[in-house]
Amino acid sequence: MEFNKKIILITGAGSGIGRAASLAFAKEGGTVIVSDINEKGGLETLAQIEAAGGKGFFIKTNVAVFSEVEALMKKIKDQFGRLDIAVNNAGISGPTARTIDTALDTWEQVMSVNASGVFYGMKTQLPIMLEQGGGVIVNTSSIAGLRGLPNAIAYSASKHAVVGMTKTAAMEYARHNIRINAICPVFTVSPMFDPAALEKVKKGIPDKLKASIPMKRFGKIEEQVGAILWLCSDKASFVTGQALPVDGGLTA
Ligand SMILES: NC(=O)c1ccc[n+]([C@@H]2O[C@H](COP(=O)([O-])OP(=O)(O)OC[C@H]3O[C@@H](n4cnc5c(N)ncnc54)[C@H](O)[C@@H]3O)[C@@H](O)[C@H]2O)c1
Repeated sequence: MEFNKKIILITGAGSGIGRAASLAFAKEGGTVIVSDINEKGGLETLAQIEAAGGKGFFIKTNVAVFSEVEALMKKIKDQFGRLDIAVNNAGISGPTARTIDTALDTWEQVMSVNASGVFYGMKTQLPIMLEQGGGVIVNTSSIAGLRGLPNAIAYSASKHAVVGMTKTAAMEYARHNIRINAICPVFTVSPMFDPAALEKVKKGIPDKLKASIPMKRFGKIEEQVGAILWLCSDKASFVTGQALPVDGGLTA
């Protein structure tokens, strides 16, 4: 029961990595605030937490809208009085295209969810953590936050921004007992990255992507969740400002 009595917020918790992390934190005794723009997905996650005997709440939030993120943190403060752990995980990939063919709308949407969403999250979570004397934040970046990803300029820019924000905020708040890290997943099988669907659209691409990873396979959701839980645990008590690749050796 590593996270017993902890109040934990996870954004993008209605699917994939965020859902699995929510279930894992709840299993370890945490009270999980499941947040997502997708109400159906969020309520499904909550139902799964409760079916497993865990504790959770759902609060619908669009992380790209500052007033909604502010309202989310106010609700958490009013209802629970604290926020021990925040996982800013909500993200979108956007359509793929080369740089000159990338639509302005794509740029704006991807940057607003993936980059502004993380900034809005930390901007509103940190005052609560400062007031209570500590906390932990994990932001979900990507290997595309550490290296280029052709045909995904907005995604790559947004995930590099997550790494920069993580390091900057970590340095600012380290002395206040607040640790801030990021995980950088490689292609991980989830609703966002479905190799079978990709194979139908672009034959042979999943095999090429897999071949580029030294471990010769895609990531599993549980492997990303394992890194998130470790970073949020006391076992990582001296780790802050890091962007941890969980990538089968790709960035090595
Ligand atoms: N799956 C991968 O291969 C992979 C690789 C690297 C990084 N990531 C990152 O991991 C995170 C989780 O991805 P996933 O694979 O679980 O994808 P997913 O699509 O299964 O989950 C993303 C969740 O974010 C939610 N979301 C999207 N826009 C939102 C918004 N504006 N406000 C609130 N919620 C919003 C979606 O509704 C969804 O529930 C993302 O940040 C993604 O960029 C994923």
